[in-house]
Amino acid sequence: MTEHIFNNYNDAVNALRIKDLKQSLYDDGEVIMDQVLVCLHGEEHKKRRKLENKIFTREVFKYYENEVFPRTINETLEPYKESGKMDLVDYGFRVLLNLTADFSGVDRPEKTKKETEILLGLLKIFASGATLHHSTRDHEEVKNEVRNALKSFDKQFLKPSIERRKNLIKKQAYEDLPSDILTVLLMNEDDLNLPYDVLQREIAFYLLAGAQTSIHSLVHVFHEIHDWIKNNPEKKVKLKDDPIFVQKCFLESTRLHPSSPIALRKPVCPVKLPDNKEANLGDSIVIDLYNSNRDKKIFGEDANKFNPYREPPSGQNLYGLSFGLGMHSCIGRNLAAGVNSKPDTDPNNHHYGTVTMILRELISRDAIPDPNNKPKMDDKTKRPNWGYYPIIFSSKDKNCD
Ligand code: HEM
Repeated sequence: MTEHIFNNYNDAVNALRIKDLKQSLYDDGEVIMDQVLVCLHGEEHKKRRKLENKIFTREVFKYYENEVFPRTINETLEPYKESGKMDLVDYGFRVLLNLTADFSGVDRPEKTKKETEILLGLLKIFASGATLHHSTRDHEEVKNEVRNALKSFDKQFLKPSIERRKNLIKKQAYEDLPSDILTVLLMNEDDLNLPYDVLQREIAFYLLAGAQTSIHSLVHVFHEIHDWIKNNPEKKVKLKDDPIFVQKCFLESTRLHPSSPIALRKPVCPVKLPDNKEANLGDSIVIDLYNSNRDKKIFGEDANKFNPYREPPSGQNLYGLSFGLGMHSCIGRNLAAGVNSKPDTDPNNHHYGTVTMILRELISRDAIPDPNNKPKMDDKTKRPNWGYYPIIFSSKDKNCD
């Protein structure tokens, strides 16, 4: 078996575009990832993606950003308003899990902290299954935990969510049906022929794909902004007054900190690679997103630095390859990151994405890193993520609303 590694931007782009390379990042995580969208290949992948893509439209985003997300952000912020402080990692998990659950189609009838706690516990177990490859624990033990978590998820969340939607479909009350992934899958049940266990994993995977990624991006951008502000204190006002600038901060930080530092593929037949070498069955292709995103030839001499004024390289994105590219490119990118702004974009009628929305809410409360409580990296994973990030709200008036 040969390992082919691509760590410059152009090679990474070309490798991600090769159609005969199949997903292999989750080969050990079958217990939660088997047959979910990101693991499918060829026609099967195309068909499911086309269907699920129906929900990722501008109208649906607009509805979520204007109607659903502000409410969810406010509800999840409620318990912290009085104390005026929080661990951003913990809060990030709660808020982004709830936002992603809305979009995935996982109802939370109680909307309480306890209910979020239960779903959060399940999400963390699902995540340990998806990243089983890196786990130092007994693999069978982790798999059993995931199987049990899937059962609990099914009983408490998925079954009631399915039942509610099926009743609406039966009554032909289509206008009352929520716009979410679960609804799309149920409406097209006959055509898709999804076995129930695949449906279960697909929805659990959406929770993972949406929440687990965005949460780390949120903490990274918060940290980058506050590091940058130390040397640019006059820009504090801009952060409050210019939401498009805040979105750019997020895109720049996401380039520096892709939620998955690599993409992994395996050939389905002999394949010519960007370095002109041949990959054969059994080989592994490592696409190093982290280093490709810091390629000085593409992003300039300061590619390793956070520079929110960076202009996107011609034809490329500010966020580099952090949302992937090619057939598996992130279907939820607009949900998390919004749409790219143009010089004439109206800031009052722009789609910012969940992370910028949360960030703006924190900025409006003058959230700053807690000076008496140092953040810590997560030592439970090899990924460079924050594990604990205490912040305080220094604006008194917003604490009490
Ligand atoms: C900052 C946030 C996010 C980041 C950095 C991110 C990153 C990525 C990356 C790198 C991939 C490609 C994986 C590969 O090529 O192997 C991907 C795929 C995917 N993402 Fe995201 N993602 C984010 C948010 C979301 C959200 C909010 C959702 C949905 C609610 C989502 C759903 C998916 C799905 C379903 C795929 C698989 C697409 C396919 O295989 O066709 N992601 N994401």
